[in-house]
Amino acid sequence: MTTKLIMSAVVCCSLLMGCSPNGKTEQTAVVTASETVSTEIQVGKDYHSFSNPDEVKVTNLVLDLTVDFEQNMLSGSVQLDYKKVLPSADKLVLDTRDLTITNVSANGKTIPFVLASQDSFLGAALTIDLPQVGDSIVVQYHTSPQASGVQWLTPAQTAGKQHPFLFTQSQAIHARSFIPLQDSPQVRVTYQATIRTPEALLAVMSAANDPNTPRDGVYEFSMPQPIPSYLIALAVGDLHFKAMGERTGVYSEASILDAAAAEFADTESMLIATEKTFGPYSWDRYDLLILPPSFPFGGMENPRLSFITPTVIAGDKSLVSLIAHELAHSWSGNTVTNATWRDLWLNEGFTTYLTYRIMEMVYGEKRYAMEAVLGRQELQADIDNLAKNDQVLAIDLRGRDPDDVFSNIPYEKGALFLRELEQKVGRAEFDKFLLAYFKHFNFQSITTDEFVAYLQDTLVKEHSDVLSMGRINEWIHSPGVPENAPVPQSDAFTVVDQARADWLAGTIEAKDIKVKEWATHQWLYFLNNMPEKLSQKQLAELDDAFDLTQSHNNEIAHSWLLISVNNWYEPAFTRLHEYLVTIGRNKLVKPLYKALSHTAEGKKMAQKAFAEAKDGYHPLTVKANEGFVE
Ligand code: BES
Ligand code: ZN
Repeated sequence: MTTKLIMSAVVCCSLLMGCSPNGKTEQTAVVTASETVSTEIQVGKDYHSFSNPDEVKVTNLVLDLTVDFEQNMLSGSVQLDYKKVLPSADKLVLDTRDLTITNVSANGKTIPFVLASQDSFLGAALTIDLPQVGDSIVVQYHTSPQASGVQWLTPAQTAGKQHPFLFTQSQAIHARSFIPLQDSPQVRVTYQATIRTPEALLAVMSAANDPNTPRDGVYEFSMPQPIPSYLIALAVGDLHFKAMGERTGVYSEASILDAAAAEFADTESMLIATEKTFGPYSWDRYDLLILPPSFPFGGMENPRLSFITPTVIAGDKSLVSLIAHELAHSWSGNTVTNATWRDLWLNEGFTTYLTYRIMEMVYGEKRYAMEAVLGRQELQADIDNLAKNDQVLAIDLRGRDPDDVFSNIPYEKGALFLRELEQKVGRAEFDKFLLAYFKHFNFQSITTDEFVAYLQDTLVKEHSDVLSMGRINEWIHSPGVPENAPVPQSDAFTVVDQARADWLAGTIEAKDIKVKEWATHQWLYFLNNMPEKLSQKQLAELDDAFDLTQSHNNEIAHSWLLISVNNWYEPAFTRLHEYLVTIGRNKLVKPLYKALSHTAEGKKMAQKAFAEAKDGYHPLTVKANEGFVE
């Protein structure tokens, strides 16, 4: 895999040269220190997997893993059932990272394999000589304690302090660090698993979970629907279950179970509302697993069991759009999946659009409008900071680690594009389209090109008076946001703008602003749109009036702490330190570390917090911050 800097041609795609939605290739410029050559992206090629599903496709996995908390190691075997796509194929290539492979066998006999040397971020290819007859092999292996997709927590790092905890995070390319497999979203597998744990602990997976399973240390799972590898997930800990609705419940450590069930009590209503508009839920139960605060993301849409950060338990349901988002993936993502990481926006853009729709259905127009404005502002912040190549929906990720390219572009720009389609054809028509789209590509992995071809054949054909392929391709292949795109607006923010302006002008004191009825979103909007520089007096006045340093809402605290760092407001620094060492969700800590790193004194604080927190952070959070903190 090349490590050259590869730049996708974001040359005006309204010209549509080489950006053909139906074409198979796209012109790009590969820029090295001394040369500029033209290469082509092979549409649909997964540049982040060594595997060979075009020749041999794995269709089912049977896992048998023992969870060893002494050595921080998963060990055991995986049986891979496969089909030859190419009858002459005699090799199966799997992805691995930091795995020790002890044996590979077929029909009970050891067979030859070669483990290549590790690429810096793709891991190592495992090439297996397939026997002439047969459709199944077994790999014996164990993981490394440093596995990038697994976090091992000591009892001290859990809420209950009595038992260790383990969870996996496979997306984007980390499943290979705990299972040797074809780690590409183009490959879908069903799976069965036996997980062996210490007796006191419970294992859960992105599969059918029985809330009443006896706690005996041996847990059996089955995922009967084919899923891409990035959705394979496991967690083990002192977990307990509480039902929320008929099909929904929550797993977590005992001490937060009731709070979580109360916070997310609307999950069942969200499920019902989504089904009504976008078609039946395909996955039987929908449960939530609330992880320890080191979980590196807000949430992860592992099928039947979304993994959720505890940092959104605010006590007032103000941050539950996260649940709507992970639930929405059950339609947009888990049933219709991106074929490659270049196409991630098909997952995240559709899901963000659906999230807004679910929030509107369950909580009303006002809530939706506020969230849409905040989302648009986050998108703008990224557009202002990212290179042009990274502002396109169908991004060129060749030679790059998908973890390094995480931004709001696939999310909010993707959602805004769909909002425009909705506004142009009308909501009823657009919903009809989405329903048909989810059905048409059910349990498939598709490329951006396949989506665009489908769109052209359906919605564009029916509404050629208002939709054009030129505009659609501009959305997908050009940087920024096209002119005249929808502009989310919220009346609830008008009073906030007024209050902020009056306070900044000195015509009103902070304590006299009428904030009693303000929603969390209004607070976020109030803080996020403050001028870059505030005086110590102004900061102290805000803090005295609203106790912002002590805010129990992790998003509000985040916005306030960011302001505090940027203005060196020392009274907030004890809280800042505590925040950084107790939360591992990268979206919340990285901007704070980044801001601190801008000054020498700030960097010292960042280093102190990072050194203290590092052992408890997830490998992904460490990787995302160590480069500029340490
Ligand atoms: N699937 C993503 C998380 C993800 C994306 C992990 C790409 C690895 C690579 C999940 O659905 C997500 O989008 N989480 C967001 C939630 C938010 C947008 C509501 C997060 O964690 O912040
Ligand atoms: Zn998502």
